[in-house]
Amino acid sequence: DSIKIFAPATVANVACGFDIFGFAVDAPGDEVIVRKRSDNQIIITNITGEEGKLTYDVSKNAVTVPILKYLEQTGNTQGLEIELHKKMPLGSGLGSSSASSVAGVFAVNELLGKPLSAKELLPFSMEGERIACGSAHADNVAPALLGGFVVVRSYQPLDVFKVPTPDELYVTIVHPDIEVNTKDARHILRNEVSMKNTIAQMGNVAGMIAGLMQADYKLIASSMVDFIIEPVRAILIPEFWEVKNAALEAGALGCSISGAGPSIFAFSQGKETAEKVAIAMKNSFEKVGIHGDTYVSGIN
Ligand code: HSE
Repeated sequence: DSIKIFAPATVANVACGFDIFGFAVDAPGDEVIVRKRSDNQIIITNITGEEGKLTYDVSKNAVTVPILKYLEQTGNTQGLEIELHKKMPLGSGLGSSSASSVAGVFAVNELLGKPLSAKELLPFSMEGERIACGSAHADNVAPALLGGFVVVRSYQPLDVFKVPTPDELYVTIVHPDIEVNTKDARHILRNEVSMKNTIAQMGNVAGMIAGLMQADYKLIASSMVDFIIEPVRAILIPEFWEVKNAALEAGALGCSISGAGPSIFAFSQGKETAEKVAIAMKNSFEKVGIHGDTYVSGIN
């Protein structure tokens, strides 16, 4: 009575959609193994791939917090043991805590005969985000859970929907070997936004959705502009503007910060361009001695 589940990395915000847009990639991601126990204890038995940075305390780990909430709300007393195999970097802006939160609660729901739908698991997964960074945003957990490109239309009440994406749309991600803490990256944001920036941002949000649905790459490209978050957070990522320019020069449709950073993502039409963009972005970081991993993926 055990199950192994993989949950993918995700790119949140997607330029103009702070806290409301996110999409899932093929890899990297997290693997979680859950086994039933004969008693009613919930324990983490093994964590790998995170250099000892994560806790075995089930009330504090993003993999188990959603599971505890799930069991509590469904009135289930089944004991479980959990293994978490991190196959992606922490603090990377790639939804690392979300991948754990989603894989854990999804695995438990499967193991217990699937009483809840994937969408119903979302509020539990969001609790993992709250524990990991102090804010229960859904723009990483929702795509990790549902796949593809997801919009969080509303938080209260929670309402998410999927948007189809064009086949030839590829993402390039560069993860530089620096860490940015999501909590800090949220703290530096201003609470007020000007009317002018709100209007510009709304235009781009609408443009992005229409562009994705109509496979209009030009519209996607012109909508990949963020007037509110990127200008503030760019200071947390050395070489951000240079890397972004390198991506655009190599043919990317657009480029911005992945989630809270420091990873940077770019969209391209076609895998070949996305691979060229990966080399350009990586080289741009390397010019100043910052090494990084690159990923090229479809949107899945
Ligand atoms: N929307 C969130 C943020 C994603 O940008 O803070 C962080 O994972």
